[in-house]
Amino acid sequence: MPEAQRDIWSEWLLKRRFGGDAEHMKAAMNFLYPVRDKVLHNANLGENETLLDVGCGDGLIAFGAFEKSNSVKVVFSDISQDLLDHVQHIAQESDMTHRSQFIRTSADDLSAIADKSVDIVTTRSVLIYVENKFKAFNEFHRVLKETGRLSIFEPINKFRHPGPENSFAGYDVTPVVEITRKIRTVYEKIQNPISDPMLDFDERDLLTFAERAGFKEIHLELDVEIKPNQLADWDRFLRAAPNPKVPTLEEAMQEVLTSAEQQAFIGHVRPLVEAKRGMIYSALAYLWAVK
Ligand SMILES: C[S@@+](CC[C@H](N)C(=O)[O-])C[C@H]1O[C@@H](n2cnc3c(N)ncnc32)[C@H](O)[C@@H]1O
Repeated sequence: MPEAQRDIWSEWLLKRRFGGDAEHMKAAMNFLYPVRDKVLHNANLGENETLLDVGCGDGLIAFGAFEKSNSVKVVFSDISQDLLDHVQHIAQESDMTHRSQFIRTSADDLSAIADKSVDIVTTRSVLIYVENKFKAFNEFHRVLKETGRLSIFEPINKFRHPGPENSFAGYDVTPVVEITRKIRTVYEKIQNPISDPMLDFDERDLLTFAERAGFKEIHLELDVEIKPNQLADWDRFLRAAPNPKVPTLEEAMQEVLTSAEQQAFIGHVRPLVEAKRGMIYSALAYLWAVK
């Protein structure tokens, strides 16, 4: 499909998250493969089971399941038809269609999937886009067979958000705080810092949703890190979009800054990025549960 016609989800997953940079893609996959493995480990995949991957994207978890089991059947589901077409194409190429099903559906309305029909539900970085997360947990519970398992990974973006005003993406922007405020308005116009689904929940909410949906045995692991950003790279900082809904920093600057302001901002931040003087603040939640 021509890139210009792809929806925001496929455009971001297949391109904008990497900022067109092969090194960034490699670094991202180095982070994602262990996450995938942990989600699948927590799912406790058995013989001849059916796994429903909700918000399958480009198939990270779903194709990982095929690698781990010769007998698993996978239901790929997503709201993006472009991504479903993409994974269907990969499944065909790798001769996996006989073990695959593709369903376009939203995480909070899985009505296309029958009650008690799957052994495992997985989802990675999808609930952050879903407004009614409790409804999604109810749906996960409904479609699972008795003793079926749920395995989830979600970043907890509420951690350190909103952060101090003189900090931007982990860099001290004290000398350019006014300019930074203008850049922030671009992002906050699209994602309200309090009510956006990506920012309005934490790990305890995930636990509560799972318990209220009826899961009997629930585990939660929170992986929190504060550390220097050793992988920082200026082009990536400028051109990789943080999520499907928002512009790159370069686009945001062009939208609201004069060229003098752009120069002042870049003049301050670029040396910090290049000297790797930024910090990473991350909180990642793994939740797994038995029906
Ligand atoms: C960050 S990507 C994660 C993709 C994949 N799970 C992975 O691990 O790489 C988010 C995915 O969620 C999908 N998505 C967004 N909103 C959704 C919703 N309400 N229901 C189901 N999928 C959704 C997007 O199309 C995208 O594929």
